[in-house]
Amino acid sequence: GIVKNGDITIGGIFPVKIMDFATENLFTEKPEPQSCGKFLLQPFLWVQIMIFAIEEINQNQNLLPNITLGYGIYDSYYRCSSSNPLAAIIGEASDKMTIAIATLLRVHNYPQISHATTVDFLSDRQQFPSFFRTIPNGNYRSRSLVKLMQYFGWNWVGTVAEDNEIGELATQDLIQELDKTEICIGFSETIPNVYSAIKIRHVVEVIRRSSVNAIVIISYELFIVPLIAEVTRQNITGKVWVSTEAWSTSASFYKGSQARTVTGTIGVAVHKGDIPGFKEFLLRLNPFTSQDNIYIKNFWEHMFGGSEKLNELNVSFFDASESRITYNVYNGIYAIAHALHDLYMCIPGEGPFENGTCANIHYFEPWQLLHYVKNVHFTNKLGEEIYFDGNGNPPPLYDIINWHRVPDGNLKNVEVGRFNFSAPHGKDFIINNSALMWNGGNTQIPHSICSESCPPGYRKAARRGQPICCFDCILCSEGEITNQTDSIDCLKCPSDHWSSNGRDKCIPKTIEFLSYQEPLGATLASVSILFSLIPAAILCTFVKHRDTPIVKANNRELSYLLLLALMLCFLCSLIFIGQPKISTCMLRQVAFGIIFALCVSCVLAKTIMVVIAFNATKPNSKLKKWVGPKLPNAVVFVCTVIQVIICIAWLSSSPPFPEQNMRSQIQKIIIECNDGSTTAFWLVLGYMGILAIVCFIVAFLARNLPDSFNEAKFITFSMLVFVTVWLSFIPAYLSTKGKYMVAVEIFAILASSTGLMACIFSPKCYIIILRPERNTREYLMGK
Ligand SMILES: *[C@@H]1O[C@H](CO)[C@@H](O)[C@H](O)[C@H]1NC(C)=O
Ligand SMILES: *[C@@H]1O[C@H](CO)[C@@H](O)[C@H](O)[C@H]1NC(C)=O
Ligand SMILES: *[C@@H]1O[C@H](CO)[C@@H](O)[C@H](O)[C@H]1NC(C)=O
Ligand SMILES: *[C@@H]1O[C@H](CO)[C@@H](O)[C@H](O)[C@H]1NC(C)=O
Repeated sequence: GIVKNGDITIGGIFPVKIMDFATENLFTEKPEPQSCGKFLLQPFLWVQIMIFAIEEINQNQNLLPNITLGYGIYDSYYRCSSSNPLAAIIGEASDKMTIAIATLLRVHNYPQISHATTVDFLSDRQQFPSFFRTIPNGNYRSRSLVKLMQYFGWNWVGTVAEDNEIGELATQDLIQELDKTEICIGFSETIPNVYSAIKIRHVVEVIRRSSVNAIVIISYELFIVPLIAEVTRQNITGKVWVSTEAWSTSASFYKGSQARTVTGTIGVAVHKGDIPGFKEFLLRLNPFTSQDNIYIKNFWEHMFGGSEKLNELNVSFFDASESRITYNVYNGIYAIAHALHDLYMCIPGEGPFENGTCANIHYFEPWQLLHYVKNVHFTNKLGEEIYFDGNGNPPPLYDIINWHRVPDGNLKNVEVGRFNFSAPHGKDFIINNSALMWNGGNTQIPHSICSESCPPGYRKAARRGQPICCFDCILCSEGEITNQTDSIDCLKCPSDHWSSNGRDKCIPKTIEFLSYQEPLGATLASVSILFSLIPAAILCTFVKHRDTPIVKANNRELSYLLLLALMLCFLCSLIFIGQPKISTCMLRQVAFGIIFALCVSCVLAKTIMVVIAFNATKPNSKLKKWVGPKLPNAVVFVCTVIQVIICIAWLSSSPPFPEQNMRSQIQKIIIECNDGSTTAFWLVLGYMGILAIVCFIVAFLARNLPDSFNEAKFITFSMLVFVTVWLSFIPAYLSTKGKYMVAVEIFAILASSTGLMACIFSPKCYIIILRPERNTREYLMGK
């Protein structure tokens, strides 16, 4: 190792030289011997900063005056044996080594400060009481990455982790954090840490096929290289690689063909510190002046030897401001120095140990220094506060790094934001959107979602066996809406509203009734009025020819009354048109019932008249006294009054009323008359039917009576038409809804009235108008 003696020695363990990773072990032939030949630049920098910091402290008259710090720095892959007493140890970088060392050191309570190990379980105070670190523990990384994903709206992400316990633990921690959010994991793969082309190709195949665009890689830089090489070979672009602090600033990918693949990589990096004076210190390095540094030869070879050319010098090496992990080492050394300083400055009697005693700087026990390390709290040269929490963790700070493509085709990493978990809410996460660059040089944030969000009008429907982020959008059913994106449920519209076609808002239902304005209503109304003129015209004709035999036959007044009633029949259909109100609802069925009862009773009276008139001509007939207007008048009166009584009973018990019917047709509010009592309605109709049937029977029996103008035939016929119309009305009425129900009734009224009118009056009119020569008593009685 690199050893420099002093009053007190600080140990350092760094992996400057490691095993070569590049040869694949195929297990089919004897593997090549592995050598510790690979020199790593970054750990070398950590060694340098340790030396730099200790020298700086030794020159500082305020920190540890009269005490010279020495160091013993060892490579992780070399056995070390040293008789120098140790105060504390800085290291290691690899998790495995750190854990091994921590396990060893806790026996003696040696403080250990790691600058690069993030595994969470090292925060377990029971197991590792003397472990500290100057890098945030892994859980903060997970929380930061999740926050980034949420910020960019990626809810469908993949993870690729190195295939060992460390990768597994970090992935588990990330998944636990993701479980607290609505982000889903599309795939979770591992990359081998023993090179295997087959496994790498498998992972790349998964990445290529998946719709996931945001892929978190949790791995040591070295294992990622073959993965990115294969991704580049297969021309996979458009992915966002989310990096962890382990490779956020790795220059391995910045040049050549891989640069295109990883442009736009974003992730967290260890907080950067610009250590004043360190750059100059590095520039003074020289194999001739730094002979006690065992690594200097390797370093010199690395920088200038082999194919390396001076103009390709790793710029970031000399750009000391790029120091991140290096800065952690620096802070670690200072933490130990400050702890030692506090121990040194202890005033006897006021010390922290038994009876107020202090520790002796020259002969202190490790647990005594441990006490001071736990409580160390100082501001470093950069003005940043350094301390450890109860679990040995530093204030959690991350820089957000984005890989930008520069005009020469290479990449550079750019700091675009920061996580500071100890800052107040709102300042803990800062990101500069306008500084972001994505794969392909785009400035638009890439999507990484399994399903596009559902627009208003649609609801999410989970896909069986798939994560919740993958769903189908299903249009809300009729009468239901959603007015927000990504709704889980559709909301029912209020009962007087209906869903719009897009199902994104409730619209008032259309109101429906048979109105005068619409074609159907207008037609029916004009037909009624037109047809009501016909009985009026017939009436005029009858009055004009009132003294002719054909008019006088079978009770002239009854004919007048029937014609009047028929006129009213046609007109009463007008009450059925227009918006139902209390008055029209009450009037409708009642007027219809009474007028029709009047009509049919007139016809019945006429039929009875025919029968009586015929029989009365026989000698000694008892019916003679019935000839005259009394009987028909009585029949008309009684039959009509019965209907009037039924109607009065109906109106007084449960009168019809207007009603908004929202049930029968979902998209409409039908304004209709509720009959109040359906029984009463059918009673009115039934009574009319009975009258008609009685009339029909009587007329049928009288149809062959020998009278040259026997009305009975026509009445039979008219009643047949009447009954047929109203019998066919029943099923038609019951099977229609809304305004058509009303139209059916109007149609039945018009049809039956027309039938009645045509059958009874057309033969008479024919004779009166076209065959006036037949309109004589002789002709009528003649044959
Ligand atoms: C350091 O040494 C100087 C001279 O030997 C002495 O005057 C001074 O008191 C010492 N400081 C401490 C803190 O022991
Ligand atoms: C990748 O693209 C290059 C040129 O754009 C092409 O030559 C090469 O065949 C492509 N490789 C694959 C695997 O598609
Ligand atoms: C954000 O980034 C843009 C582009 O790099 C830069 O011009 C601007 O100053 C940055 N804003 C802040 C607040 O850092
Ligand atoms: C969505 O509909 C609900 C209930 O109808 C209403 O309270 C809310 O304001 C609507 N939201 C939007 C964004 O229109």
